This record gives sequence, structure tokens and C-alpha cells, in this order.
Amino acid sequence: MDGCRSDPFRLVLGIETSCDETAAAVVAGGKSILSNVIASQVPLHQVYGGVVPEIASRNHLEQVNLVIWEALQQAGVTLKELQGVAVTCGPGLVGALLVGVSTAKGLAYGAKLPLVGINHMEGHLMATMFLEVAPAPPALALLVSGGHTELISWEEDGSFVRLGATKDDAAGEALDKFARVLGLGYPGGPALERLSLTGDPRSYSLPTTSLPQTLDFSFSGVKSAAVRLWQQSQGLGEPLDLPSLAACYQRAIVGALVEKTAAALQATGHKRLLVAGGVAANSSLRLQLKELCAKREVELYIPPIALCTDNAAMIAAAGYRRLSRGERAPLALNAYPRMVL
Ligand code: KG4
Ligand code: ZN
Repeated sequence: MDGCRSDPFRLVLGIETSCDETAAAVVAGGKSILSNVIASQVPLHQVYGGVVPEIASRNHLEQVNLVIWEALQQAGVTLKELQGVAVTCGPGLVGALLVGVSTAKGLAYGAKLPLVGINHMEGHLMATMFLEVAPAPPALALLVSGGHTELISWEEDGSFVRLGATKDDAAGEALDKFARVLGLGYPGGPALERLSLTGDPRSYSLPTTSLPQTLDFSFSGVKSAAVRLWQQSQGLGEPLDLPSLAACYQRAIVGALVEKTAAALQATGHKRLLVAGGVAANSSLRLQLKELCAKREVELYIPPIALCTDNAAMIAAAGYRRLSRGERAPLALNAYPRMVL
């Protein structure tokens, strides 16, 4: 077991229920994953083509205690041996968040443990703490998930400054929505990525909105153009090459992410780049950012694919840092669906 025994927050339990994964993890010293249990609701939502909030909350309620118990079992620790509890308190679906927050409050109160509330997006960023060489600020962060697409400057003092964000759909949302139109199921990002592998990414021209002079993104234009192209082809009975359409769509979205990240590196002069969130699992994005960073002599920190999508180990890692800085959440801690970083 890693981590110094004199560390007052050596063992932190993380709890995550902001969307469609019920997750709990035990992390030692903010760096070593002892357990990382995820009960995915994906099959439940798949029939609807996206997450149904009410179903998500109900399922979190059914799963959360089992998942926590499993995380403690796998880590080989009891509740009494923990030194803190960290829980995602926003942003996310309010009913889903409330399940995790109420559970964490009950556990912390009952076991007399310090409690800390974590912003889900900060959690995603802190998944980079599990890399062999963990990053330190100052750095640029590209956060790309199903609900968020943001460029953040992680300042020397640990604070976050938002440099740009999407004006409409998040990158993951744009991938999910188009995949749904194509009948590829949910989540769409991985499905489009698989389909793209055999396609030609240059066969169809799709417009991208570049919002010049800003570090903001817009994905609704390319989404509408791709949907229109698909619907026209269906109407005319002239089938398109699906893998190529998927590849062109993915190329447009990844291209926009890479282009704005390059501009943000240029504007800030940051020499470290962190990439996190579900879309950071995308191989094409990973590869292009690797090439960009090599060219610019920037250090790149991307978590392993399994830690890019929602999990509770990242919440425990973020919690460890906040608890160590003396932060505590009161038992009045609430769910904050629109919480900003
Ligand atoms: O971070 P995450 O697990 O949940 C949110 O906080 O939203 O991100 C989920 C998003 C979904 O939109 C999903 O389609 C996308 O991440 N995603 C991917 C890949 N894996 C997950 N997008 C592109 N390529 C992937 N391999
Ligand atoms: Zn997430």
C-alpha cells in the first residue's frame, strides 16, 4: 500500500454519481488507486439514446451503497480506517448528484470523517495525478466531456481561469447527438471512433465554426451540417459511406479542439498541457495533441483511457488535495448542478 503512514489523509474514499456512472474508489496518498469500482448505467439509457435523469437517480440510489461496499472490500479497508470522504457535488444532474452527496454526508457524519465536495471537472483534471509523473501548475487544461468543453489556465496558486468554452454543444454531446441520428447508440463518441477507423476522413466537406479572436468553441454548425447531409442522402435514397461520414465528423470536432488548444498555448505561453474528460479517450485527439506538444516543446499529461471517463478515483485524488489544504464541507453541502470551476 502506497502513501506515507503519517499522512493525515492517506486513505480517501471518493464517490461519484453526477451522471450515468455510480462510482466509488479508495485512493492512498492522493496518487495510488486501491480500488476503483464503477457501476455503469449505460445499458439502461441506451434504449433511449441518451441519459434519462429520473432513471439515473433511481439507479444511483439502488447501486451506491453496494458500490461503496465493493470499493472498501477491494481496497481491503474498513470505513474506520479511512481519513476522508470526497464527493462530486456538481456540475451534473441534480437528482443524480443528490444521491452521492447525501450518501457521503451520512457516511462522513456516521464515521466522523472529514468531508469535501468536489467539482466534477476538477476531478477529471486530477485524473492526471495518477500518471507516473504528475503535473503541477502553471499549465493549460483542455477539458472535454459530454457536458463540457473548456480551455482552462491552471494558475501557479492552484486557481483556475477559464479562457474559453463552447457556445453551444459540448464536444462529447455533439458526438453523441450525431451518433444517435446514425443509429449508433449511446455513448456516441466511442461508437463513432470505431466506425471512423475504416472511413476516409477527407471524403465529405463539413463546415466548422471557428469563432476567430476567441478561445471559444461551437459545434452546433458542424452537427447540423452532418445531420442534413445524412438526411438528404436518406431522402434521395443515395446512401453515404457511413464510416467516411463518421471519420469526417470526428475529424472536424477533433480539429477544432486541437486548433483552439494550439491558440491557447500560444496566447498563454504555458509549457504544460493537461487533457481530461471522456472525449480525451479519443485516439485521434490523443495523437494530434501529442504531435502538437512535441512540435511546441510542451509537456503533455493525459490520463490512461480508463481514467478519462467518469470514475471516483479522480474525485478521491481531488479530495485528497483539498482535504490536505484544510478544506472541509459542512453537512449542509448541497448538489450544485451548474457549478463552475
Ligand atoms: O467525462 P465523461 O465520461 O462524462 C461526462 O462528464 O460527461 O464523458 C462522456 C463523453 C460522452 O460524450 C462520450 O461520447 C465521450 O465522452 N467519449 C468519447 C470517447 N469515449 C467517451 N468521445 C470520443 N472518443 C472516445 N473514445
Ligand atoms: Zn465526466
